[in-house]
Amino acid sequence: MSTPHPNPADLSDPEEILGVILDPARRGELYPYYHRMREIAPIHPTEQFSLERGWFVTSHGAVHAVLRNLRMLSDSRNVDIFDSGPSGAKFFEMMKRLLLYLDRPDHDRIRGLVSRTFTPAAIEKKRPLVQRVVDDLLDEVVDRGRMDLVNDFAYPLPIRVICGMLGLPHEDVAHFMTWAHDFARRGDVAALDDEVIRNGEDASDGFESYFGELISKRRASPDDDLMSALIGLEDERGALTDREIVATCVILLQAGHNTTADLTSMGVRALLIHRDQWDLLRSEPRLITNTVEELIRYDTSVQISQRVGPSDIELDGISIPAGEMCILVNGAANRDPARYPEPDRLDITRSDVGHLGFGLGNYVCLGMSLARCELQTAIGTLARRLPDLELASETAEFRPTLLLRGLESLPLRW
Ligand code: HEM
Repeated sequence: MSTPHPNPADLSDPEEILGVILDPARRGELYPYYHRMREIAPIHPTEQFSLERGWFVTSHGAVHAVLRNLRMLSDSRNVDIFDSGPSGAKFFEMMKRLLLYLDRPDHDRIRGLVSRTFTPAAIEKKRPLVQRVVDDLLDEVVDRGRMDLVNDFAYPLPIRVICGMLGLPHEDVAHFMTWAHDFARRGDVAALDDEVIRNGEDASDGFESYFGELISKRRASPDDDLMSALIGLEDERGALTDREIVATCVILLQAGHNTTADLTSMGVRALLIHRDQWDLLRSEPRLITNTVEELIRYDTSVQISQRVGPSDIELDGISIPAGEMCILVNGAANRDPARYPEPDRLDITRSDVGHLGFGLGNYVCLGMSLARCELQTAIGTLARRLPDLELASETAEFRPTLLLRGLESLPLRW
């Protein structure tokens, strides 16, 4: 039986509030506790997160200031949490090569090259592909009158899109669903067992050999796809190595699937709970662009970013020493009443949404144009093709992780 929810107003010890925020059983009721934390300790020193001392930052002003400070880095030491010894070595080696965990100058070089293939204009050309994937997924369920949005729609969508962009044959997508799932599951280090570690090794092997072969094929015979574009990228320091291309494909698949899937399902749920907003979107489809921005602000999938500085910084009068981790809670910043009037109200006509859901600065989401395109197409098409969509269950089961917030399932009917 779950314990009763403490009233946030009764809590005055920041560590106690943080304990509630970090409790995996409380993912559905996060925001009142973020508010309380921000009221009493917006920049809170803590020893949680296995740190000697880190800073849990919840105000918009402070999160924004750290993200846009280009001297603050996403520490490559973060990757060490994935080291589970020799039996999990292939996964750990792959993680160390992913953009998110690279230090300068490799991070900036690879990011600079890869981002050329993810500009808004390049992604706009992919909109027909995204629409086709969305329509195919809906065609598969439309006659059933019900679906689990997470597993039938939101989860396969970004994987099919990125596989389509990379130029993979449709019949290979099933491997990628399995590998992407097993790789992500292995990344949840709080819940490892032998089987999870073994599956993580198989997924790392699978990615390595599949992408390795595809690189050879496209080198011999380039096509009009993302893999050929990655092979052709070059700057004054040269082209990406094969190892870097493999790691880029893995990060695009991994950073782009749960994040987008979770936002699709949490966003649709929020709209169906606030039925007037769903009805408004149905009657004014042009609101889809702003709707997606508001949904990201309202409840984002990537709740936390981490930064450390090479020297001390001053944050709202508090001195943060060099080398101490700032745990930036994007999700709390996006609901700060000092930045957003009535922050807990979902309002798809809100002006100046300007959320921090894609981060800012050095590490701003490389795939944000693709994420926007997928969310606009997915949610816009659902509203058009299934206008009577409704929740088939009152309750929602959130995944236990906080860093990547999302739903286990979302039963819907129409
Ligand atoms: C709604 C969906 C998404 C959300 C909310 C999201 C959010 C974020 C955030 C907050 C960061 C910055 C992390 C930090 O500050 O340390 C990030 C980084 C990144 N995202 Fe996304 N993302 C989404 C979708 C995507 C997609 C579709 C792709 C690519 C296919 C992608 C690729 C990346 C990559 C490669 C990085 C690392 C950038 C770097 O280290 O320089 N993301 N994302």
